[in-house]
Amino acid sequence: MVEIESVRSRFIKHFDGKTGNIYAAPGRINLIGEHTDYNGGFVFPGAVDKGVVAEMRINGTEDTVMAYAIDLKDRVDFHLNDPAGPRTSWARYIYGMALEMRKLGVPVKGFNIAFSGDVPLGAGMSSSAAMESCFACGLNDLFGENKVSLWYMVLAGQATEHNYCGVNCGIMDQFASVFGKAGCLMRLDCRSREFEYFPFKPDGYRLVLLDSVVKHQLAGSPYNDRRNSCENVVKHIAKHHPEGKFETLRDCTWEQLEEVKAEVGEEDYRRAKFVLGEKDRVLAVCEALNEGDYERVGELMYQTHEGLSKDYEVSCEELDFLNDIAKENGVTGSRIMGGGFGGCTINLVRNDLYRQFIVDAKKRFNEKYGHEPKVYDVVIGDGARKLC
Ligand code: GLA
Repeated sequence: MVEIESVRSRFIKHFDGKTGNIYAAPGRINLIGEHTDYNGGFVFPGAVDKGVVAEMRINGTEDTVMAYAIDLKDRVDFHLNDPAGPRTSWARYIYGMALEMRKLGVPVKGFNIAFSGDVPLGAGMSSSAAMESCFACGLNDLFGENKVSLWYMVLAGQATEHNYCGVNCGIMDQFASVFGKAGCLMRLDCRSREFEYFPFKPDGYRLVLLDSVVKHQLAGSPYNDRRNSCENVVKHIAKHHPEGKFETLRDCTWEQLEEVKAEVGEEDYRRAKFVLGEKDRVLAVCEALNEGDYERVGELMYQTHEGLSKDYEVSCEELDFLNDIAKENGVTGSRIMGGGFGGCTINLVRNDLYRQFIVDAKKRFNEKYGHEPKVYDVVIGDGARKLC
């Protein structure tokens, strides 16, 4: 995590010399369950030890926000009552969160904020959810007497993505960033919102991310297209079964998908097929984890990669290459993590194979693409909180 002192020194320097309160929220990993959240399925994320740290202070104005992005050395001031809001993309997260918290009854007025983050951008580790949860935590504390519950903070973060940033995301990232707990993954049922903490200490194995440093753009976008495909399949299935209740692919069976295959078209069919398979895989991973069977967990991760690459089509050449290298090095499990279109693979690797795998991946990736992938050892950390 970013050092508190480095945020504080900039906050003092760029505003009126006074200090505020400091809040932090993490990015996330996801063991398995990709593109299932907006389909009412299961996900298996955990918070990481990298995130966003923000210092915030009420500034006494009606609606003026003075914001400083420390890492970008960029200052943007804007008014909360301006219906257009700021144009700068990072500032829209602050604007969006403030307006969404107002909708929840928090009387947000003017404030100063400086923030910094160490979640690698575009890596699929959800730096945006880290911002949203961090700002939610701060606004709830400064203006709302902490009355907004954690779940409503999650939903405000998701609404910010939908309403101000153009990404029709599910709830996994904001959930993980708010509810994260050190040492634990969480299995979330995205339909009922019930979840369970799973202490994750895979004896003899470790989780490592390989970042291709290829960036994805989710807004406006291939991500939203995938979601539309899934919703289209649900609509068709619902038409065939007027007696049933079909809200998401979670409510649909393999047989029902086959029934509409011809009418929805090949592309939507393949996408829905991936989602139904992924729903089953998350449950299978839970069973395997309960039995301590990490080899089985790994097999399922490879299956997810295959589906994300061939059926859901959110992979890219670089990620498929990293996946192949993992296989060739005997890595237990490997797959694209997050929304796709670049970013990281998540790898479950035996301790004794770890070193050789990293050396080989760096070398071969560099030979092919002219730069090494970045390596992040996964440390599962805590969710959004006030630091001081
Ligand atoms: C992005 C979205 C999430 C989820 C993942 C894919 O991270 O923000 O809601 O859909 O992609 O699993």
